[in-house]
Amino acid sequence: MNATAQVGNRFFPEKDLATTGIYYYPEHWNENQWERDIKKIASMGYEFVHLAEFAWFKMEPEPGKFEFTWLDKVISLCTKYNLKVLMCTPSATTPAWMRTNYTETFVMDGHYIRGEHGTRGLGSIVNPTYRGFVEKIVTEMARRYGQNRNVIGWQLDNEPDAKPDYSPSSQDAFRQWLKNKYKTIAALNEAWGAAFWSQWYNDFDQIIIPNTTLVGWWGNNPHALLDFKRYAADAQAEFLDFQATVLRSSISKDQFVTTNYTAVSTGADSRRTKKLDFATYTAYPNGGSDNIGDLGFRLGNSSVILFAAEYYKSVGGVSGVMEIQPGPVNWGTYNPLLLLGTVRMWLYHTFAAGGKLACSYRFRQINYSAEQYHAGVIKTDGTTPSQGGEDYMQFMKEIAALRKQYKPGVTMPERLNARSTAIIWNLENYWTIDRQKQTSQWNTWNYPIKFLEIAKSFGAPVDLIPETADLSKYKFVIIPAYEMVDSGVVKKWREYAANGGHLIITCRTATKDRMGHFWEAEWAAPISGLIGAQVKATDMLPGNAKGDILMGSTHYSWNNWADLLMPDKNTETLAVFDNQFYKGEVAVTKHKVGKGTVTYIGVDTDDAKLEADILKKIYTGAGVTIENYPPGIYVYWRDGFYVAVNYSSDSYAMNISETARILVGEKVLKPAGVLVWSE
Ligand code: GAL
Repeated sequence: MNATAQVGNRFFPEKDLATTGIYYYPEHWNENQWERDIKKIASMGYEFVHLAEFAWFKMEPEPGKFEFTWLDKVISLCTKYNLKVLMCTPSATTPAWMRTNYTETFVMDGHYIRGEHGTRGLGSIVNPTYRGFVEKIVTEMARRYGQNRNVIGWQLDNEPDAKPDYSPSSQDAFRQWLKNKYKTIAALNEAWGAAFWSQWYNDFDQIIIPNTTLVGWWGNNPHALLDFKRYAADAQAEFLDFQATVLRSSISKDQFVTTNYTAVSTGADSRRTKKLDFATYTAYPNGGSDNIGDLGFRLGNSSVILFAAEYYKSVGGVSGVMEIQPGPVNWGTYNPLLLLGTVRMWLYHTFAAGGKLACSYRFRQINYSAEQYHAGVIKTDGTTPSQGGEDYMQFMKEIAALRKQYKPGVTMPERLNARSTAIIWNLENYWTIDRQKQTSQWNTWNYPIKFLEIAKSFGAPVDLIPETADLSKYKFVIIPAYEMVDSGVVKKWREYAANGGHLIITCRTATKDRMGHFWEAEWAAPISGLIGAQVKATDMLPGNAKGDILMGSTHYSWNNWADLLMPDKNTETLAVFDNQFYKGEVAVTKHKVGKGTVTYIGVDTDDAKLEADILKKIYTGAGVTIENYPPGIYVYWRDGFYVAVNYSSDSYAMNISETARILVGEKVLKPAGVLVWSE
């Protein structure tokens, strides 16, 4: 934690469990409706109002001319109706004068075409002129509202995404980033493998951003592209830290600073920020993606909140949902009605995973413009709660009741603690693997989620942690496809196992150094001692072919990825290949290291049955009892409450003890059902 960021938890008294809020855009509505709307927000049970997100045009109608009286009015209405305010900086949407008068403040795409005014997120965050304008508006806002006791905190920008920017400002910033990193051009040439295809540079000034649009897939250098991803993520983090610093010079320490990352963020890396108190996420589970069973299309993708709610805790220790889908959206492949109770179930999911705030985009459905088909918690008449609004009201009423049941000082039951699991994951490995997948069947984003799902089906508490985190508190640590390593991190993994931890390492781990080069050594050389085996070769099959694997007397099939292993003599073989020309070769191994174990799973299967059975062996072999929840049933424990949610299309009877006190819902969880109980 750095000097200016604060401990995220201090903003959220535990007894409050989760605080609820809603996005309101007064600038979209007639002023004579503001009081009616704010009053309605309060009467529905919300506790804070999220304001000013995209309202730059109204706060600075002309360069240097600031206008805040309208916002003062809304804030005093919030005070009148006992609502707190979460303020947002407007940097995601610039006023028309910015694009007209200061062209350079906009990003350029891979064809070097400048973004136009009219949407959002097109500011060139490394451009000094744009930065200057951001600094001014944020300073003005901070001065005006930084000491307002009703303002609880600040969201920076909107869904930061580390957009690739090929503008001249970004080219300069990239070159500077490279100079800082490599110091000499010789070091860069080596790291980028620039001898290949005459990519050699004599000078940093010859470098332009590697441009897949113009060079084509083959011509692109994976090491240069990896650095471009790193640079873009660093620039994004630094832009957020810059805004946080500007705010902090005027705001009270009681106001938090955060931002709202997308749940699936493949560019922006929250862990690179140093000045946020904590990170939040936006969750839109229902956009026409893969869901579970016949009703799945109404319930949404169960892995969205599952992943984000854990992942974003790695900044500041706490998290929460800043935007939750309030009903049908306008951007899905199709946008169905949600099953009754779905929004409430999603809210409970964020809560179950420890969420400290539960806010939604947006209050009123807008009657015009790009998002007019997007649900709000209030319908287009401006006053009637939508289905999502009803769900929200029920959730808020129930949370108020649960607060009365809260008992301070409770600790996680040992039965659950004994299963505690960490998954080590970072975006750098996502970037490098996704660039060179080697088979179209490799699903880079979903790969770690597969293991998260398995551990959750065991009823384990799971954290998604960076490699720098302390591993000692976890009984099981999973390292899925962690391609780039160095000797330090492998040493840490070895120590964890030696001290009694159970390490599960999977295919594609440790095959490259941090620049993405292979080792001039045997495959995956840094971990061969740790796993007690050598990776001899890797096979992959066409999508319709089936590879056969035998573990005990059970057969499994695979076709995505298979490492052929040569175990050392003290290493146990858990599974072998049972067809193909290498029938009999080893697919999964287990190695004793000190007081612990290291299991290597060399195979990626579609149905995850093999992986699940191996993990089952490891957990039960370590003397731990596990559950067997079906897909889409997630069970959590937080602050003394057990919470179960059901994303599946079937009812599921929760097996809870006779003496359990049911606080919300019923033992039989219907699709979109929720059960809260205490023991
Ligand atoms: C989010 C965004 C919101 C709104 C919403 C629509 O990604 O942060 O501002 O556009 O999508 O679903």
